Amino acid sequence: MSAFPIGVFDSGMGGLSVLQALQTELPAEHFVYWADSRHAPYGEKNDAFVRQRSLAIAQHLIDHHHIKALVVACNTATAAAIHELRTQYPHLPVIGVEPALKPALALSKTRRIGVIGTRGTLGSDKFYRLLNSLQDQAEFIVQPCNGLALAIEESTQVAISESSPKIKALLQDYTAQMGEFGDAPGQMDTLVLGCTHYVFAQPTLQELLGKHVQLVSTGEPVARQTRRLLAAAAQLRVGPGLRPSARLQLLTNGALQGLQAASTRWLQLPHTVCHPADPSV
Ligand code: DGL
Repeated sequence: MSAFPIGVFDSGMGGLSVLQALQTELPAEHFVYWADSRHAPYGEKNDAFVRQRSLAIAQHLIDHHHIKALVVACNTATAAAIHELRTQYPHLPVIGVEPALKPALALSKTRRIGVIGTRGTLGSDKFYRLLNSLQDQAEFIVQPCNGLALAIEESTQVAISESSPKIKALLQDYTAQMGEFGDAPGQMDTLVLGCTHYVFAQPTLQELLGKHVQLVSTGEPVARQTRRLLAAAAQLRVGPGLRPSARLQLLTNGALQGLQAASTRWLQLPHTVCHPADPSV
């Protein structure tokens, strides 16, 4: 069982940022990644749709790839479907991602923390409960960023110079609506990236907000949690570390070139790891 792969999915390319952390944390594991690009963006669809996609992908990864654990590398799908996934597959370790409000609290000195994410994530009951449980410890400024995940998703298809002005304009607009960033009292000194796509816009964000603002994402804690759950289930793969391309399959139901471009640009992977996904899922 420990030789089977770990399944990872997202609405598209964003979850590659989580996959990167998983590969570093678990160098002997095999991974199969499903980019549901034909249905991106999840963040602007309704919960029932995202839940139905999440269950269909999980079932396919179990039936055809015999996964031993599932990482939901998408905040929106976690908010909409993690409960159903765990109920449906009680014996499968299922790891989700959520905006990293608690880690941000530990970092912020001004106690003003910005949170960006999709409308689906930030409007979910799950996020509301998380926010509510921490609201007495800091002020959270929450901003849904419609269109941003899609702009980042589409940026893989074109040259960097063509895509970045659009992403930069969206980031400028949304962060300006949130208020002042910086490390002075009353300013937001920490920004939570509550969508796995946004991690790939981190350099642009840092340039916009300045070096005193800390950007917080979830890839590494999720990778550590995956290790803990696999160890607890005695399913950690032991053995020598493998080259990433030798232990990875990336599947997409969108444009294959888009996935190839993203995995090369962001994870330095060869095109040979990318394959078309089963279109019937
Ligand atoms: N990357 C996903 C997330 O973390 C979804 C983005 C989208 O498809 O809207 O929320």
